[in-house]
Amino acid sequence: MKKRNIIIDCDPGIDDTVALSFAIANEDKLNILGITTVAGNQTIEKVTLNALRIVSYYKRNIKIAMGQGRPLIREKSSGGSIHGEDGLGDCSLPEPALKLYSDNAITFLRDTIMAQDEKVTLVPVGPLTNIALLIKVFPEVKEKIELISLMGGSTIGGNRTPYAEYNVWADPEAARIVFDSRLPIVMSGLTVTLSAGLYKDDVEILSRGGGKATGLLGRMLDYYFRGDHVKKGTFTPIHDACALMYLLYPQIFEFRHTEVLVDCSEGLNRGNTAVDMRDWVKYDTTYPKVLTKVDTEKFREILLNDLYKLDGMV
Ligand code: BDR
Ligand code: CA
Repeated sequence: MKKRNIIIDCDPGIDDTVALSFAIANEDKLNILGITTVAGNQTIEKVTLNALRIVSYYKRNIKIAMGQGRPLIREKSSGGSIHGEDGLGDCSLPEPALKLYSDNAITFLRDTIMAQDEKVTLVPVGPLTNIALLIKVFPEVKEKIELISLMGGSTIGGNRTPYAEYNVWADPEAARIVFDSRLPIVMSGLTVTLSAGLYKDDVEILSRGGGKATGLLGRMLDYYFRGDHVKKGTFTPIHDACALMYLLYPQIFEFRHTEVLVDCSEGLNRGNTAVDMRDWVKYDTTYPKVLTKVDTEKFREILLNDLYKLDGMV
């Protein structure tokens, strides 16, 4: 099978780390052209350092470029405490061996995308600031973008506020630019990500198993389990892994093509993604593909199985 070219835009972040780990475990199917960072779960300095630490930990040599440190026009906001002071559950990950490839994610994205013979899939799993800037400043890249598989938005209410999911809430103007771009988009919103995750028992087994990679991920996830986003203390969503899972295993999801309108007002509805879920209204396939359901057991089995592969790499 031909490998898919991807670039992951992220703000690691514990679930971002699981998503990066899952992608690295699947490098036989994914050609990871680079990782770009964006402020979100922590400051741009911290999330960039974290991306370097994670990739170094796996002894991989993936290009990492630092992106935007604040939203397009709003004030900077922190992603909250669920990712810890360092953004990685304060697990004391070693200092990175890898050096930053570029301190300008936007030109890195442009140059990398334009240099490929084949189109590139973008996987944004943080606020959409970098991707919006890329599309606006270098619109020529649009021709070469195969798909944007993003984590963000919701059709069922929010997590950062009652009405908005965090990544869209953090930079709604950027999200609006991306959804209005008419590029092919797959939206992994809370509608599916709240059911895509791991049980507390899975995490305990990961932590205790003695694997270097899974042990670290287990410790991080153990920290993540202390957040109040966890369902009755027994199941935690791993939001960001969904955007990658869709690329590799689309058959475990259900979806609907529909319009996604981002609310950029200030106040109650900031960052709300208004989605038309009336099943008698038909939208063609040029509209975003909004994921509506995931097979939780398959998601969990595939994710765990692939994460264990990483123990052979570190
Ligand atoms: C999103 O917010 C962040 O905290 C997570 O990393 C994820 O990307 C979920 O709303
Ligand atoms: Ca994230």
